[in-house]
Amino acid sequence: MFRMVEIIVEKPVFDKNPSPLVVIGIFDSKDYEKYLKYLGSKAGNALKEIILGKGFLGKLGTSVLLPIIGNPEVEKILLIGLGNKEKFTQDIARRMAGKSALKAREIHQPNFSIFPFAESGENEIEAIAEGIFLAMYNFGKYKTKNSEENNKIQKVKLLLNNSNVERLQARIENVKTITGAVNFARDLGNLPPNDCSPGQLIVHGLTMADSLGIASTTLERYQMESIGLNGIVSVGKGSNNPPKMLILEHNGTSTNAAPYLLVGKTVTFDTGGISLKPSEKMDEMKYDKCGGCTVLGIMRAVSELKLPIRVIGIIPCVENMPSSTSYRPGDIIRMFNGKTVEVLNTDAEGRIILADAIAYGVKTYRPRLIIDLATLTGASIIALGANVAAMIGTAVDLKTRLKKLSEITGEKMWELPLWEEFHDQIKSHVADIKNIGGRPGGAITAAAFLSNFTNGIPWVHLDIAGTGWTQDGTSKKSYNPKGATGFGLRTIVKFLVEESPTDGKA
Ligand code: BES
Ligand code: MN
Ligand code: ZN
Repeated sequence: MFRMVEIIVEKPVFDKNPSPLVVIGIFDSKDYEKYLKYLGSKAGNALKEIILGKGFLGKLGTSVLLPIIGNPEVEKILLIGLGNKEKFTQDIARRMAGKSALKAREIHQPNFSIFPFAESGENEIEAIAEGIFLAMYNFGKYKTKNSEENNKIQKVKLLLNNSNVERLQARIENVKTITGAVNFARDLGNLPPNDCSPGQLIVHGLTMADSLGIASTTLERYQMESIGLNGIVSVGKGSNNPPKMLILEHNGTSTNAAPYLLVGKTVTFDTGGISLKPSEKMDEMKYDKCGGCTVLGIMRAVSELKLPIRVIGIIPCVENMPSSTSYRPGDIIRMFNGKTVEVLNTDAEGRIILADAIAYGVKTYRPRLIIDLATLTGASIIALGANVAAMIGTAVDLKTRLKKLSEITGEKMWELPLWEEFHDQIKSHVADIKNIGGRPGGAITAAAFLSNFTNGIPWVHLDIAGTGWTQDGTSKKSYNPKGATGFGLRTIVKFLVEESPTDGKA
């Protein structure tokens, strides 16, 4: 659907390859001198003058465009402020690179060159490439006239005076694969609910899987009924668009080591059902499929990267609608693992479909660990805001690893505790558990509910209600254009890459 930018690593030689636009990052310490030798005297003087004349201070996020009239090597310089050198991070590199690309697009400049920021190591260079690939994402499918599409960036030269050009180019190709998967997840997440029933979404997943040779199984409603996936069937039965479940399997190893299990909440539209949501912002509930879309993106990335591990992705897919066939408050559901659930609010539907999918994955695949991603609770946004995902679960090492990786990827995650008291809140008088635990600690009681279905397998739940798409309270980041963000994909793929043995055996 969406065509990506090309990023090419090159030595900074302008006389052979004149550049229409060069991006230079400047710290507030204004260390501009090292660039002078590349720019030619006219552009070099212009840069020197604006810095020494205090026309540009290098404040984080500021920028200025310097046209260099009549200069053969470089026609324009874009200065981007990087702020305090001590506070520089990979996420700042990602954001400022994204911002540079947005500025270039704004002035209809399809090709530009960029110097790596500071004494960028390979990680920062990777972050710069990520920022550009992600910022140039554009959901143009429904625009009959798409100006962003017309002015899009085609080619970026990453200017490196370094002998490792080939290795860096290979790393950038990996970044392109991963951000391509993020943009794929965004494309699916952004689909409007009238073009994205459970059946339609699963076709998108299957098309991707078939093109990459990922093994797939689709469970239809009657199949789910017959094996007792009653949680998914119950939530889905109010809609004319029947529920389905997609299971993808990437098998990159010949050993039969236990697989990694990923489960993503995929509610193509969440009206709340009989416990109907208020109409204000109900449209945003088209994003209630973002957990599942991210899982699809992760499967695409692990397959394209040919990771030598086994990964299972499960997408329980429903539309939560009010109708005469809907499940109701008061219903008691016997779930796939045999536990009974009293439904007290049909709007707490995500945990019900996830629980069944997790239990099914555990029983069928005996995974070594489980990660689930879900736009599960408004309460997680109340607790942590719209820029941090809540991380809750039993896998102690995995939580530490994900937290650490999230600091590199900029996909912020923060742990909430899963103590006994939270399990008490979801005890039911008539069934084993109930599907709501009251307002206090709402993000945690939702996770407590899920823990009933993991059968003791190490598990981490990521509540991406705040981070799955840009919304009220989202802080602006150049590399997250409006809409679905693909949150979590880069961190989890990094984790799976780390888990991949380098000798080809798992
Ligand atoms: N999809 C929503 C969660 C949500 C709400 C995500 C707002 C992003 C923004 C989920 O299905 C839901 O409705 N949760 C309820 C649970 C409650 C009924 C216990 C909620 O958070 O209000
Ligand atoms: Mn809901
Ligand atoms: Zn929901």
